[in-house]
Amino acid sequence: MAGRFITFEGLDGSGKSTQLERVAQRLEARGVSHVVTREPGGTPFADLLRELFLRREAAQVDGVVELMLVFASRRQHLIEVIEPALASGAVVLCDRFTDSTYAYQGGGRGVQPELIAKADRLATGCRAPDCTLFFDLPPEEAQRRRRRHGTDRIDRESLSFYRRVHAAFRERIAGEPDRFRLIDASAPIETVAETVEEALSDLLAQLQPDRSAGA
Ligand code: TMP
Repeated sequence: MAGRFITFEGLDGSGKSTQLERVAQRLEARGVSHVVTREPGGTPFADLLRELFLRREAAQVDGVVELMLVFASRRQHLIEVIEPALASGAVVLCDRFTDSTYAYQGGGRGVQPELIAKADRLATGCRAPDCTLFFDLPPEEAQRRRRRHGTDRIDRESLSFYRRVHAAFRERIAGEPDRFRLIDASAPIETVAETVEEALSDLLAQLQPDRSAGA
């Protein structure tokens, strides 16, 4: 059986990466074969692109250049990691995917959605996840959290940039309500974990432990 492609999306500071780790731990405990990965990045070459993308020296980079960088990373990641893992029946837990491009390059930088869709066709054939968890947090609260932890180029963007990013995410959700699960990320961490478990229960209930594991 083909695996499941699950993505985790939200503003920087929304806590999605912590929750992704928790889902991975639960799959591990149940013996379900899975892969944890992230974007931009996920392969040695894509990680190099990520490093370039997040460097402070890239501050003047144009939105379309950002678009090309993230899709270059994504295509390599898809070919080298995501598709083979899904074909082997594994669950792929991916921290960000194309929804982030619509939110950050589209909403944040003002790149036209039609251009993003064209790049997506070229790079991935418009590959969509089976399910996307969106960790919803008001941009003001996300900014407070980033002040404590954030360090990269995008973490330093303005509140108005993050308001546009948030609005673009909400537009994606409105356009594809069946794919998204909305998670209230302002709740305490344990409550968020319970909401995530509940949100994935249908999808994960169908999965069998990997009987070849440890063989
Ligand atoms: P991360 O901090 O969640 O790993 O993500 C890295 C940064 O890259 C984050 O600020 C969002 C940004 N990003 C984009 O701007 N476009 C994209 O397509 C992706 C995947 C991430």
